[in-house]
Amino acid sequence: MTFDTVIHDGTIVGASGMFKGDIGINEGRITAIAEHLSGGTRRIDAGNRLVMPGGIEAHAHIAQESASGIMTADDYLSGSISAAFGGNSSFIPFAAQHRGQSIDDVIATYDSRAAPSVIDYSFHLIVSDPSAEVLEDQLPRAFARGITSLKVFMTYDLLNIGDGGMLDILSVARAHGALTMVHAENNDMVGWMNRQLAARGMTTPKYHAISRPELAEEEAINRAIMLAQLADAPLFVVHVSTAGGAERVQRARAQGAPVFAETCPQYLALTRDDLDRPGMEGAKFMCSPPVRDAATQEVLWRHVRTGTFDSVSSDHAPYRYDETGKLMNGADAPYPKIANGMPGIAARLPFLFSEGVVRGRITPEQFVALSATNAARIFGVTQKGRIAPGLDADIAIWNPEVTRRVTLADQHDNMDYTPFEGMELTGVPEIVMTRGQVIVEHGQLRGAEGQGRFIARERVDMRGRSGLGTKETALMHSDEAGATS
Ligand code: URP
Ligand code: ZN
Ligand code: ZN
Repeated sequence: MTFDTVIHDGTIVGASGMFKGDIGINEGRITAIAEHLSGGTRRIDAGNRLVMPGGIEAHAHIAQESASGIMTADDYLSGSISAAFGGNSSFIPFAAQHRGQSIDDVIATYDSRAAPSVIDYSFHLIVSDPSAEVLEDQLPRAFARGITSLKVFMTYDLLNIGDGGMLDILSVARAHGALTMVHAENNDMVGWMNRQLAARGMTTPKYHAISRPELAEEEAINRAIMLAQLADAPLFVVHVSTAGGAERVQRARAQGAPVFAETCPQYLALTRDDLDRPGMEGAKFMCSPPVRDAATQEVLWRHVRTGTFDSVSSDHAPYRYDETGKLMNGADAPYPKIANGMPGIAARLPFLFSEGVVRGRITPEQFVALSATNAARIFGVTQKGRIAPGLDADIAIWNPEVTRRVTLADQHDNMDYTPFEGMELTGVPEIVMTRGQVIVEHGQLRGAEGQGRFIARERVDMRGRSGLGTKETALMHSDEAGATS
């Protein structure tokens, strides 16, 4: 058998085991895995290296306008390059609908924005305007095109669709096998806190973390799970930041509910003290939900380890620390007028490897599950996320022993800061491939603008998870079946 590329002598890691062996690649696909493979137009020595599925970044904001009109600093070229340097072979950023926009127009816009991507990509929709046309025509068209997930917000006045809107979305998504993702924070609790803090003149960045209480997340996650239960639909809770929220997810999963969840490195690495840095520096660490405290970090790590979280995603939301981003409303703007979000697409996997695997909190297999395999399964990326014959050769070869300090230059993004600056991390993705093409090699970009392709995704995989539903929705659905038979 001949091969375009053979990766030899590496330790191949999957979500459920690892072994020493060689991987043969032809025309972008893995065609053989064996103890020893000879040949190969190119042979890559992976001795003393871990050979893992390329990361799938399932939560990133790229070339996206916020609801208040601020454009992210990264477009699909810089965002995909940064992702690749961080060990990712593909990503699923958001295509955001703002009120009044048609989903068809949104997708057309993001299709053209994504064209320069170096890595393969898909989109999650963000739906902020679930009108009848959106629910009945536009979303089903998007799902049929392989855009099989969408995010809704329970907070932000310009995005929050209310409980009724969520039920409508959950129900349409259920009918088409799509997955609803939710940003869960109680908008009224946050609004009330904002008014309390404003009345006291407490408007510097550190009050952002106070304004969005842990309870606001826990309440909203609980409500979102119950709404999903009523609609008998699967749910993915994004960027869980609290112990209470994680426990709600854990409880629902223990009951067999199709509830999935992620947390992000910022919630494992940073605390609200970071928002209290001198001057406006704290603005760099503002995201929603906000970062919490050291005790919460330990609880979240436990949930990472015990499987409450399916993935650890970056929530890369790059707004520069200048007048195009964080300081758009002035160098002393009150926290409600500072863009939420922070960069981290290149730091996600080095952080998770170092603080997770190297520190003994998770196994290499769990790293693979959290970085790629689970996202592929949940979001219907059937051709990626595992090293197996027939699948895309999306592979990252990691040196598990090199230690470096995080620098802005190593992020390769379009940002002017990284919140992880100076952290000492062990483990580096030395070679990253998308469909058999080396895109990053020992700190050099090898991938080309535009080589990434759109990934049409399958319906949500509910294996191992039964819907819970309610008596009332079951009765309604059985009457409906009777009426139409
Ligand atoms: O603060 C954040 N996380 N901004 C990005 C948008 C979002 O809600 O994920
Ligand atoms: Zn969010
Ligand atoms: Zn986000």
